[in-house]
Amino acid sequence: MKKQLADWGLDYFDLYLIHFPVATKYVDPAVRYPPGWQYEGDEIIPSKATIQDTWTAMEGLVEKGLSKSIGISNFQAQLIYDLLRYAKIRPATLQIEHHPYLVQQELVRLAKNEGIAVTAYSSFGPASFKEFNMDHASNITPLMEVDVVGEIAKKHGKSPSQVLLRWATQRGLAIIPKSTRVENMKSNLESASFDLTEEEIKKISGLDKGLRFNQPSNVSLHEIPAVANTGYRTITNNSP
Ligand SMILES: NC(=O)c1ccc[n+]([C@@H]2O[C@H](COP(=O)([O-])OP(=O)(O)OC[C@H]3O[C@@H](n4cnc5c(N)ncnc54)[C@H](OP(=O)(O)O)[C@@H]3O)[C@@H](O)[C@H]2O)c1
Repeated sequence: MKKQLADWGLDYFDLYLIHFPVATKYVDPAVRYPPGWQYEGDEIIPSKATIQDTWTAMEGLVEKGLSKSIGISNFQAQLIYDLLRYAKIRPATLQIEHHPYLVQQELVRLAKNEGIAVTAYSSFGPASFKEFNMDHASNITPLMEVDVVGEIAKKHGKSPSQVLLRWATQRGLAIIPKSTRVENMKSNLESASFDLTEEEIKKISGLDKGLRFNQPSNVSLHEIPAVANTGYRTITNNSP
């Protein structure tokens, strides 16, 4: 943490997150920085730290003034309920993969009821996972090319990417789209300049497939068969 603050030239972070509810063996920054998932080579070595251990350490960062707020990412309902039993400081935010192929209505509702702000990552769905050679990301229709999204975009005189971002913000989520292009950054920033109707929001939510691209099992690099008839699939390959 202190090395991260020094790298940024900051005294404290506004918000610091547990990236995944999966603890891996500590890598000293002098050995490798950032540590990544693998301990050495391709080997992923789990740590014995529980989520409670990690959360207590996160609370210590707030107590020491190193972070103003702390949050979680990639947690599902059961883990959140468990964490809320022992947390002295409640998570300010929950960051999740969220796009029309993975709507996560119940999780978003739970967070709202618990007063935890939700941040969406991968708002464009498969777009940011193609570079990891994920078959599911390459084989599914890109969200920006889905008819429903295109028709709504045309009606409002906006781009499909702006419709995808507005759909998320109108559902009450914060967004953190990533781009290397100035014109896309500008377009993303301007995505709150119009409103979708309730019906349009429902139509876009109707694209839900429970399709998750980013999960810890991805790093196993072993293909896990699709679960028949559920529409839910496990994507393999390295996560970003
Ligand atoms: N908590 C977690 O586990 C987790 C996991 C993944 C990501 N994240 C975070 O989430 C944030 C978003 O990253 P992401 O990987 O999910 O990427 P993303 O924002 O979903 O998508 C990035 C991709 O979309 C393209 N793009 C961006 N704006 C566009 C626009 N207006 N029109 C067309 N294409 C556009 C980018 O290409 P161009 O560069 O060409 O614009 C890039 O290929 C990052 O801060 C990342 O660190 C968190």
